[in-house]
Amino acid sequence: MTSTFSSQSAAVEASGLSLHYGSTAVLQGIDLALEKGKVLALLGPSGCGKTTLLRLVAGLLGPTKGQVRIDGKIVADAAGGLFVPPEKRGLGMVFQDYSLWPHMSVSRNIAFPLEMRGMGGKECERRVSAALDRVGLGGFGGRRISDMSGGQQQRVAIARAIVAEPAIVLFDEPMSNLDRELRETMVREIGELMSDLGLTAIYVTHDQSEAFSLADQVAVMRKGSIEQMATPETLVDEPATTEVAEFLRLGCVVRVVRGDGGIRLDGTDIALSAAAVPARATHALLPSQAVRVVNPGNSGFSAEVLHSQFRGDGYLTTVRLGAMPKASVLTFLARHRVVAGDVIDLVVDVADMRWFTRQ
Ligand SMILES: Nc1ncnc2c1ncn2[C@@H]1O[C@H](COP(=O)(O)OP(=O)(O)O)[C@@H](O)[C@H]1O
Ligand SMILES: [Mg+2]
Repeated sequence: MTSTFSSQSAAVEASGLSLHYGSTAVLQGIDLALEKGKVLALLGPSGCGKTTLLRLVAGLLGPTKGQVRIDGKIVADAAGGLFVPPEKRGLGMVFQDYSLWPHMSVSRNIAFPLEMRGMGGKECERRVSAALDRVGLGGFGGRRISDMSGGQQQRVAIARAIVAEPAIVLFDEPMSNLDRELRETMVREIGELMSDLGLTAIYVTHDQSEAFSLADQVAVMRKGSIEQMATPETLVDEPATTEVAEFLRLGCVVRVVRGDGGIRLDGTDIALSAAAVPARATHALLPSQAVRVVNPGNSGFSAEVLHSQFRGDGYLTTVRLGAMPKASVLTFLARHRVVAGDVIDLVVDVADMRWFTRQ
């Protein structure tokens, strides 16, 4: 993995980070560096270790191996036995369940991190009121949490995370308890807040669109490791592994078969010229975005339509590439209506294909 800035300027840095529960490795060999003022999303399926990694940064867990640095200072070092507790790491946190006290007022909830630092009186009030304004809840300080809606509680949790002006804010799936419509609004609001405040943040999610809309860098995680860390654009354009391509649903990953008849994509009638295929490639990605439907006889390959649904901007179409029962399936957006059972001709420019070498 390459990073484009020197680790001197890293706001958060993890090196060789591992976490074991007994003999089970939950995280293994995590290296990452996050520049000040940037947002990093940890993206991956449930159980891949996102929360665990966030908790290691927060100081809610200690690593089995490796180091965590915040602002260049070591805050956890397994080998040296060094461990700085969470309240001394200068972080704000927003949890999945918000962790608010339901019977206390909004203001008391938000004031908590300031009180922990021994701040009270007018300065505390001023900051709480500024944080409430920031999240669009000015005037709501006297309400009880239990009288607030889900979206409002979410905003309170964010206000509490930023009230002490922490250097870094950690978010753990903060949208997971909101319905879809509210989630879209909140993603926009959090995005604006992050850029207004110039926040350095780590944002955990299993939702690709959330990660892509909020983050400068996205670490795609799988089974306790980071598969690839890059900008959203790079992940889409240059996925490092077939797993990243599949997790991001970039298209269809097919095995490359070399035989007497030349090079083919497994289970399809797609033949490729040897010059177009890297010598060590074992798999190809046919990106959904690069697929076009062409008139028959236009040197395309044939595919059978499995289903197609109108989506406003086109027809979300799933086809089978080839005649075999286990042939690969590809989903893409077609411009024109097609019907299940139709056999259509498709082309993918070979320059748009991506190649992988898998053991
Ligand atoms: N206290 C624990 N003891 C044993 N295993 C755990 C513990 N906490 C989490 N795990 C396991 O660690 C893995 C990663 O969990 P987690 O970090 O919560 O994943 P994610 O947030 O990506 O869903 C899961 O397989 C989970 O079952
Ligand atoms: Mg989690």
